[in-house]
Amino acid sequence: MKGIILAGGVASRMFPITLSITKQLLPVYDKPMIYYSISTFMIAGIRDILIIVSPNQIENFKNLLGDGSQFGININYEIQQNPNGLPEAFIIGENFIKNNKVALILGDNIFYGNEFSYILKNSIEKHDGATIFLYPSNNPENFGVVEFSDDRKIISIEEKPENPKSNYIVTGLYLYDENVSYYSKSLRKSSRGELEITDLNNIYLKNEKLNYEILGKGFSWIDTGTFDSLYEACEFIKILEKRQGIKISVPEEIAYRNKWISEEELYRQAFKYKNNSYGKYLNKIIDEGKAFGGKYV
Ligand code: G1P
Repeated sequence: MKGIILAGGVASRMFPITLSITKQLLPVYDKPMIYYSISTFMIAGIRDILIIVSPNQIENFKNLLGDGSQFGININYEIQQNPNGLPEAFIIGENFIKNNKVALILGDNIFYGNEFSYILKNSIEKHDGATIFLYPSNNPENFGVVEFSDDRKIISIEEKPENPKSNYIVTGLYLYDENVSYYSKSLRKSSRGELEITDLNNIYLKNEKLNYEILGKGFSWIDTGTFDSLYEACEFIKILEKRQGIKISVPEEIAYRNKWISEEELYRQAFKYKNNSYGKYLNKIIDEGKAFGGKYV
């Protein structure tokens, strides 16, 4: 499966911060926001990644991420001229997707939870049609909302409904089959002037090809689109990292544990950050691997 990270848009809700730098490159505590979505793909085993960016940001992304080889992955870039909606990713990315299945993640979404890697790999393995990932929310009216039948089948999805039919919302992570570009091209813009991912998902629903996973109790999903939610995400990551003495969503670590980069390569990355906390953490990973005979690597 291939992966697309949608990191375009103007993030006007965060002006003036995002006037010169895109939201997805802002820090979420100790690393750039985009590291979290890259890491989500990496723990799912996805190595072939397209990042879709705004025209004036491509150099910033390339300076940070290059071709992805330092993470043992392959990163390509495409430009989204205007924020025309999420399904445009599959039109822009048509040549990248070719006849493959593809995952989409929004570059400002952070997922964290026990066994997430297992949930993702399992969904990819049994994947057919489309798969969406649902999360219980206190303010469903701001998102895509699903309605369930008594036997827990999805019967409708509505985009930002005034009267939500459940509190289960559709998060910014999606899996699709190889028809996704074709369906995306058939969509028409909504009243907010965008192609809607909810309309795309409704095509799969109509074809009885829409699956779902619930990211339930104890799972964290944060959409970092506002000052408050970004601040909360920073706090959340900081608390977890401080308490457990770990770091979350470090692509170099995942690459090493997946055996996509060698110990030598990890040393090189650690050296790049010399004595800051990120570099020290990478060195710790190498030492731990040795201490436990490679058990955790
Ligand atoms: C988009 C989708 C919505 C989904 C949300 C997840 O909303 O349209 O269905 O629930 O992402 O973050 P937007 O960010 O465009 O308001």
